Amino acid sequence: MTVRVEGGARGFAFPGALLTRPTGYANLKKKYGRMGCCPVRVEKQHDGTVRIWSENPAETEELGVVLGGILQPGDLFFLSGELGSGKTLFVRGLTQGMNCTELATSPTFALVHRYDGPLPLYHLDLYRLTGPEELEPLALEEMIEEEAALAIEWGEPAKEVLAAPYMEVEFRRGEAEDERLITFRPAGERYRRINHLLTEELEKQAQR
Ligand SMILES: Nc1ncnc2c1ncn2[C@@H]1O[C@H](COP(=O)(O)OP(=O)(O)OP(=O)(O)O)[C@@H](O)[C@H]1O
Ligand SMILES: [Mg+2]
Repeated sequence: MTVRVEGGARGFAFPGALLTRPTGYANLKKKYGRMGCCPVRVEKQHDGTVRIWSENPAETEELGVVLGGILQPGDLFFLSGELGSGKTLFVRGLTQGMNCTELATSPTFALVHRYDGPLPLYHLDLYRLTGPEELEPLALEEMIEEEAALAIEWGEPAKEVLAAPYMEVEFRRGEAEDERLITFRPAGERYRRINHLLTEELEKQAQR
């Protein structure tokens, strides 16, 4: 699936890449052997928060693919939620939607991975951070200045350092084994806009 939305879908800025590389959707189809696994239940709240119910790993990954088509330089996402709640799988979807040259895997031991693409993505997992002094060498501000997007798991200590608007994405397990409730809480106008674009795109896909 490749998504064209207002704000610039990255894939379309480089049409050559689309001709030679499978899109995120094609990858998912290959992996899960079916199409149309888009999240079915989306709820928009008055304060701009968006809640999405995912019923299986494919839906979470595809949600990342859709969002990846919307991202712009400097976009910052903090991903919270218990171990195994789906944060990394979601980021894997982001790298597909952004047409990165590699798909995300867990960066736990390296703290940070950088995925090259039309818009680079920094994926951080600060679970193993032992203290704030370990943040400094990561040079988070430089990552944003580099005009990349950032997705940070277990990122609470980085919030103060970055002091920038961001989207908080919370992952919670549901009652069923594979159920997840994914909540997008925007902090700042750009992130309310992203929520608008995301829901618009999901609605469009639901109608296809
Ligand atoms: N609806 C779902 N969405 C996402 N993952 C799901 C879902 N249902 C089951 N899973 C499974 O949950 C696991 C999520 O793993 P993932 O590495 O993405 O979690 P994580 O939140 O990044 O964990 P950690 O905090 O340890 O980094 C995977 O094994 C995935 O298959
Ligand atoms: Mg993870």
